[in-house]
Amino acid sequence: MSKLAVDLSAGRDAGNAGMAQRPSALTKGRVIFDFDRGEIECQQDSGIRRFSMDSKEGFKLAADAWLRAGWDAKYVYSFTWFGRPVIQLPDDLIRIQEVVWAVKPDVVIETGVAHGGGQVFFASLLRAIGKGRVIGVEIELRSHNRIAIEAHPMSDDITIVDGSSIEPDVVADVSKQIAPDETVMVVLDANHTYDHVLAELEAYGPLVSEGSYIVATDGIMERLEGAPRSQEGWTDDNPGAAVRRFLAEHPEFELAQPFPLFNEGVAVEPVTYWPNAYLRKKTASER
Ligand SMILES: C[S@@+](CC[C@H](N)C(=O)[O-])C[C@H]1O[C@@H](n2cnc3c(N)ncnc32)[C@H](O)[C@@H]1O
Repeated sequence: MSKLAVDLSAGRDAGNAGMAQRPSALTKGRVIFDFDRGEIECQQDSGIRRFSMDSKEGFKLAADAWLRAGWDAKYVYSFTWFGRPVIQLPDDLIRIQEVVWAVKPDVVIETGVAHGGGQVFFASLLRAIGKGRVIGVEIELRSHNRIAIEAHPMSDDITIVDGSSIEPDVVADVSKQIAPDETVMVVLDANHTYDHVLAELEAYGPLVSEGSYIVATDGIMERLEGAPRSQEGWTDDNPGAAVRRFLAEHPEFELAQPFPLFNEGVAVEPVTYWPNAYLRKKTASER
């Protein structure tokens, strides 16, 4: 494995310590946007708080409303990347682009292909960087999506492995496509249950290069309590819980949610459907 020393997380809690807690639910209660005054008022059992829209607190309330409304309205189902539907929040795509640019992986493994937008997204970044390829794992690649991916200008840099991402044969098929000295990054976006994500972390964690990342997407599930498109079990059955369990048993990884590399504004908390998603494999000297 190559020895990358990429730190995209200046300001985060050190090591795994900050990872032990579950993230809080999105803001609850009644939030009133006053565009005339440039204020946001939050009415909760604990009292009424009012913030300017240009404050860190005001922005967080707006961001929580945005994340919740976006989930309810299926906002993420409204984008394409180079012609293929990509089911992600654009903020998450921009942020992971920063990570890809820093790591410059030889291989990005993405579980959960759907329409292939993620495959094309990573392949386009790697082609622009000048090296690298993408391996997708999909349990049910629909024929029209397979045809479109195979016909896409990025297709030379994309290999799809068919099957469940946690099947040993599938994991072995992916593994054998990777040379020992290649830099590998992994994105988990298949089945988002606790059991499945934990099994994926165990299966693909060993493939991740030192200094590189495995990203367990859609941890927003545990922040969506009570939302119409959420399910009751999500409070416990979610990718974030799998990440916490995995970290407790794998000190070679640390939570490394990327912080903005450039930030001239007041917003510091990530606007993301992937909270506590980025696990970085420590380098030998960091262990
Ligand atoms: C949210 S979509 C993936 C979106 C895609 N990554 C993108 O960026 O547009 C989830 C996909 O995971 C697939 N999936 C579900 N369970 C899976 C499993 N066990 N193994 C592999 N893929 C699975 C589904 O068929 C679906 O296509």
